[in-house]
Amino acid sequence: MIPPGPRLPSAVQTAWFIRDAPGMLTRLRRKYGPIFTVRFTGLPPEVYVTTGELAEQVFRTDHGGGRAGEARREFLAHMVGEHSVLTLDGDPWWRHRKLLNPPLRAKQVAGYRDDIAAIAAERIATWPLGRPFALRDRMQDITLEIIIRLIFGIHDAGRVSRLRALLPELIETGGSPLIPMLPERFRRIPFGPYPRFVRVSAEVDAILFDEIRRRRAAPGGTDVLGRLLDTELGDHEIRDELITMLLAGHETTATGLAWAFERLLRMPEILDRLPDDEAYLDAVVKEVLRVRPVVYEAPRMLDAPLRLGEYEIPAGWYAGPFIPLVHHDPAAFPEPDEFRPERFLDGPQSRAWMPFGGGRRFCVGAQLALLEMRVIIREVLHRLELTAPDQAPEARRLKNVTLAPANLTRVTARARTPARTP
Ligand code: HEM
Repeated sequence: MIPPGPRLPSAVQTAWFIRDAPGMLTRLRRKYGPIFTVRFTGLPPEVYVTTGELAEQVFRTDHGGGRAGEARREFLAHMVGEHSVLTLDGDPWWRHRKLLNPPLRAKQVAGYRDDIAAIAAERIATWPLGRPFALRDRMQDITLEIIIRLIFGIHDAGRVSRLRALLPELIETGGSPLIPMLPERFRRIPFGPYPRFVRVSAEVDAILFDEIRRRRAAPGGTDVLGRLLDTELGDHEIRDELITMLLAGHETTATGLAWAFERLLRMPEILDRLPDDEAYLDAVVKEVLRVRPVVYEAPRMLDAPLRLGEYEIPAGWYAGPFIPLVHHDPAAFPEPDEFRPERFLDGPQSRAWMPFGGGRRFCVGAQLALLEMRVIIREVLHRLELTAPDQAPEARRLKNVTLAPANLTRVTARARTPARTP
């Protein structure tokens, strides 16, 4: 038996999802229970699960028939190439993943703390004072700079500024939903997004391959590129993983930071306790990612049927948690509507907390993302007093695989006088 789901035409389900995914899935959960099927136009049916326990059962397929890579390939392969942990599966994926894990472990990334703080401070100093602006875009400047300097290991001012211009364009043109939808032969239509994407991508590659060549001639360095050059990976494989970390790592973290301020500016009693108690700050970041998970799902493409309770999900379908609902499961998070960082201070962390997915495909950059969030929040709060011009909470808007604040977290900044000393 397959899990129940709405009988609406797939085009209607798709449009509903795009307009209001959390609202739609909350309704479906109420109607059908913790597991249900949604049908999107042009894709295999997707079974969503909404409890931590069911999610773990799906993640267990990472040891066999769950192909997270295939679920992403159609949308990402033209950007990340053929050698990316995002899109590989099976043994080739594991080979890459084993090499990518060590430079991104908590202990390794802890060494980036001062660099992250310096990059953040440099950028925060350029923010406008006294008039509202979109915080998310400013956060993205910071997280992009972190990728360029600490992951790509590029410091030359000319190259850094070239990449600052090129990388957002690469993502914008390559991320166009038209690209995966267009058959290969139509992609080359002049003036479409694809030819521009190809041009930008070639320029980015020229910089990255040149950097790889130069660094091979002078080995060492504590950035992620330096560490990958120490492995058996070839130049193309390294290029693909650098773009992978850019794609997976900078918009997500910027959106996480935007949500952190969107929430905190509406909770003065929590804000007052920040940022100097490191354990509390860590708990606040985790609670923000619980109530506003950035990535809303972590699907697996099944290559064997999967039994979940009384249901059997056929091979060829997608199955995965809808993370905002798992994070709202009162069995895992009592009074889930309450913002309560203490959940992460007292006792062991619930396994239903999954802003970074789970199983073997768990986000490789989770420790870096958490560190960035803590350090950047701290730098902002030491320097500026932020307020939200409108106290109404910002709605969640779908942006690719993320849920972002609808107004990109509008804030007004004032210099903190006297500045707190970090
Ligand atoms: C707040 C920030 C971030 C969030 C919310 C996030 C979330 C996620 C999620 C949900 C997944 C899918 C996991 C699964 O399928 O079970 C994922 C995968 C991944 N993330 Fe992140 N991520 C963040 C930051 C980063 C950063 C900073 C990097 C790199 C430096 C990164 C690199 C990756 C990669 C490479 C994968 C694919 C892993 C694989 O399939 O083996 N992410 N992330």
